[in-house]
Amino acid sequence: MKERIENLVSREDYSEAERDRLVRLMLLFVELSDPPDPDGDFPKYAEYKERFLNCAAGEDGEALEEAFLNLYAHLHMHEARYADEERRRMDEAGGYWAHAGGLSPILKAAPWIRPDTVSTDLGAGNGLQGLLLQYLYPHEKTVQIEISSRMVEIGRRLQAWLGIPNERVEWVTGDVCEQSLDGLDFIYLYRPVRPSTDRGRAFYENLAGLLDGSHGQVVIFSIADCLKEFLSPKFETFYDDGHLTCFKSGL
Ligand SMILES: C[S@@+](CC[C@H](N)C(=O)[O-])C[C@H]1O[C@@H](n2cnc3c(N)ncnc32)[C@H](O)[C@@H]1O
Repeated sequence: MKERIENLVSREDYSEAERDRLVRLMLLFVELSDPPDPDGDFPKYAEYKERFLNCAAGEDGEALEEAFLNLYAHLHMHEARYADEERRRMDEAGGYWAHAGGLSPILKAAPWIRPDTVSTDLGAGNGLQGLLLQYLYPHEKTVQIEISSRMVEIGRRLQAWLGIPNERVEWVTGDVCEQSLDGLDFIYLYRPVRPSTDRGRAFYENLAGLLDGSHGQVVIFSIADCLKEFLSPKFETFYDDGHLTCFKSGL
């Protein structure tokens, strides 16, 4: 199966190393049983998985990638459920819904994650992004911060299902605007709040201020970025494809 998938995955927008990581992820999902789903959050998983396996046994690389993306997006979920208070807080800062950041940040993160890295996903949804990062690049800890307690509950189950050890992931059910964000080496975010609101703007200002004073290298992967305008010159942009923007500070 490995060779078959390797031969099929040949998209040119990935480097060879990124393709290898994509193949590893695909093989993981070939092997995994269906996810735990006591509340019916993944109603189409079996259908998407079957399509993915059929494509893996076929000849069409593009169809395989599309089938894999559908499976990933279904597992990521695009709608979170919020308790009334969670929704109120979220709306106050212009919180963004649970859209998926996609596979490219996961595949591109390898050079920036060391075994002693502490990573975070600010507005993690069910934490799939951070869990896949831990799967591909086991590292000290991933801090998953998410306002929807339901999504965190689902994420904890996904963690066990993916076999990521407990001590590798810290789940924080809460508002990103209220967390202390010290000691992070790798920061991933997909616009958890909007800078057009007072609370959202204060979040980006505080984060940028904290990062300006940080020691050691910090790398930021930001989807649909709105942090750049707040970051100090200490940070340089080293990648930007219009979807994912990456920043790093000096060592
Ligand atoms: C666009 S999604 C990104 C999900 C995931 N990080 C990814 O990139 O695939 C934004 C997430 O931020 C969460 N969120 C929104 N406002 C938040 C807040 N104030 N504090 C924490 N999380 C929040 C949403 O519930 C949602 O899961």
